[in-house]
Order: sequence, then C-alpha cells, then structure tokens
Amino acid sequence: MKNIITVVGARPQFIKASAVSRAIRDHFSTKLNDTIVHTGQHYDQNMSEVFFSEMEIPPPAINLNSGSGNHGKQTGMMLQGLEDIFIEKNPDLVVVYGDTNSTLAAALAAAKLHIPVAHIEAGLRSFNKKMPEEINRIVSDHSSTLLFAPTLEAIKNLKSEGISHSTCEKFSSDNPGVFHCGDVMYDNSLYFAKRVGKKHAPEDLAGQAFYLSTIHRDFNTDNPVVLGEILMALSEVADNEKKLIVIPLHPRTRAKLDAIPAEISAIIMANERIRIIPPASYLEMIWLEKNAEMIFTDSGGVQKEAFFFRKPLIILREETEWVEIAEAGAARLAGADRQRIRKAARDFVVAPPTHFPPLYGDGNAAETICSEICSFLNI
Ligand code: UD1
Ligand code: UDP
Repeated sequence: MKNIITVVGARPQFIKASAVSRAIRDHFSTKLNDTIVHTGQHYDQNMSEVFFSEMEIPPPAINLNSGSGNHGKQTGMMLQGLEDIFIEKNPDLVVVYGDTNSTLAAALAAAKLHIPVAHIEAGLRSFNKKMPEEINRIVSDHSSTLLFAPTLEAIKNLKSEGISHSTCEKFSSDNPGVFHCGDVMYDNSLYFAKRVGKKHAPEDLAGQAFYLSTIHRDFNTDNPVVLGEILMALSEVADNEKKLIVIPLHPRTRAKLDAIPAEISAIIMANERIRIIPPASYLEMIWLEKNAEMIFTDSGGVQKEAFFFRKPLIILREETEWVEIAEAGAARLAGADRQRIRKAARDFVVAPPTHFPPLYGDGNAAETICSEICSFLNI
C-alpha cells in the first residue's frame, strides 16, 4: 500500500477528483491510500461541501481554510500549509488537478520537497499569460513527474515546451512520464448523466425550453463594463430567440453585479427571460446541461460538458484551451462582444452543430491514471 495525497480547493477540482476517488474505491483500494487535503479556496456550501456529499467523495482529512484573497496572499497561505502537511505525512506522491492557485501551491510545495507530483489535466494552454491559470498550468506541468494529458493537443503543447514521455526506467520531474489518458470529466459525465432526472431540475425548469450560461473569469467579471456587455448580449439573445436564459451565478460574479452600469442593470433585472440562480450542484448542473438548447460560458469544464452533451457552445472568451471543440464546429469564440455573441447564437439556431467526435477518451481516464500511478509506485 502506498500513501498519496490529493490536493483540491476549487469547485472543478472536487468534480475531477471524484472520478479518481471512485476509481480508487472500486479498483485500487488495496494499493492506494488516498488522503484528501482541501486548501479552502472555495468554501461556500454550494461551491464546496455539496460536491463531496453528492459525488460520494470522502470528506477531506484536512482543510487549510485558506479562503479568498489576492493571488500572492492566497497562494502563499496554501503553500505554507501544504508544505507542513507534506513534511509531516511524507506521501509517496501528490495528485493535483487543473490550473487553480490550489494546483500551483500543491505542485510547488511537493516538487521542492522532492515528492513526485501527478498533474491531472496537464498540457492545456490558452497561450495567454495574462490568465492566472496559464501561469499555474505552466509551473505545475514543469514541476510534475507524471503528466496526465486529456487530449492530443495537450500532448503537443507539452512537447513544444520540451516535455515528452521519458524512456528512463524511473520517471522524475526531469524525466517525466507523459500519458494521453482521456478526460476525467468525461468519465464523470457518463457516470452521473445516468443518475440525473427531473428531480435535479433547479427551480421550476423541468419542461421549459432554455439556454444556459455561466460566467466567472476575472477578465469577464472584474470590469463592470465587460460584465454589463455580456449580460446585455444574453438579454438580447433571450429576446431575439424568445428563450429563457438560466445563469447559475458564481459568487465572484454575483459580488460584481452591483457595479455594472445602472442602465444595463435595469434592463437585465426587468427581463423576465433572464433567470439568475445560485450556483448549481453537480447533478443540477448536469441536468441543466442535458436539457439546455444552447450553452454560453467562459468556464473550462462547462465548455467540455457542452460538447459531451452535444450542445451548441458559445465561448465567452477570445481563446480556448479546448481548441478541438471549436475545430469540430461545435463551438464559436465570441468574447464579451454583444454583436458576436448574438450572431453566434443565431447561426447555431439556423445550423446546429452535428459533428461530435470522440475527443476525450472512453470514460475510463481515472482507471488509466490510477494504473499508471501504481506502475510508477511499483505496486
Ligand atoms: C478559481 C480559479 C479558476 C477556476 C474557478 C472555478 C484561480 C486563480 N482561479 O477562480 O481557475 O476556473 O476557481 O470556479 O485559482 N467566492 C465566494 N465563495 C466561495 C469562493 C469564492 O464568495 O466559496 C468569491 C470571493 O469573493 C472570491 C471570489 O469569489 O474573492 C474569487 O474566488 P477565487 O477562488 O479567488 O477565484 P475564482 O474566480 O473562483
Ligand atoms: N458547475 C456546477 N455548478 C455550477 C457551475 C458549474 O456544478 O453552478 C460545474 C460544471 O458542471 C463543471 C465544473 O463545475 O463540472 C466547472 O467548474 P467552473 O466553471 O467553476 O471552473 P472551470 O472549469 O472554469 O475551471
């Protein structure tokens, strides 16, 4: 039996970790003893606890309660707390997910203690270093010993930065193992979609036709004019297409609503086709995605889920890490531009996407990852 530590902190990480947790529980429980450490980056009940209970993730053994703050303060608190835990527990491997400040802190703390890091969702790039996530991804990938890339594009990105699968007998951060393993979020979508039904419809949405939107990126929320532009675009789409738009709102965005220009705020609040609701649980979100007719988002995870459920996707960004979705014709980049968002929606109403190739594996990414971790740990 080997001891591993999984570090999570933000909503998408609880979701991704649930797939690996399930694989350990069902297939690797005699080999891997996993301790979950929560950095406390997300802390509201509907941003954290709900995922542990709903997705059957073992409760975190430790919560660092790092909370919100500027990047340096938040990451610094996590780094300090995680270093203490890693020194005390001396795990055989640390598992990190995605690209948040929790990912960065865990990868740095572990790598400097010479504890091997397994990065799940390695190799994603936006090629925009103004995104905090891009810095987090690059540093995490370059500190990792096992890199689990969900797509061929991710493998290509790593290669162009000099990271490719080593032929050495023992992987290390200088000679890493790079694996094209599929996407754990696809595993989850397959697993949970079967368990989702009408009872997971938030509010009275069952039976209604609607579009779905999520917005939380700093570049879309922190400037009130940009956020106002996106909400106006959604309001206009709702009116043009005569469709309800449901927006489960991230707390970051909720906190910025008061700052948007008053005339836009008045229009949004008066539009009965715009329905802002609290953050959804994962099962509610899967229900919303399965039943939505179109999805507008700046979220990484929601982009992929839109594709898994074969929905037309409008990306509220200028670039995406999931380029293969746009290349397949299932997504359009529209930024925060009112006209482009409206046009993309109209185009998809007229000609919905039809091509959804199998880009994200076969639903067994988590098992593949656990298997490679066991091989690396010689068990
Ligand atoms: C973080 C990640 C982002 C990811 C997102 C997933 C970084 C740099 N960003 O962004 O990559 O896409 O999580 O959702 O790590 N807040 C609450 N309650 C909470 C959590 C947050 O009110 O439970 C509010 C606070 O005002 C906080 C703000 O949201 O300041 C931002 O939270 P933070 O975790 O810093 O960044 P996210 O925008 O959530
Ligand atoms: N999600 C959720 N409830 C919501 C919004 C998103 O459960 O109200 C899920 C979504 O289905 C996906 C994940 O959260 O699995 C994506 O996380 P998020 O958008 O917060 O972050 P990102 O993927 O952009 O890092």
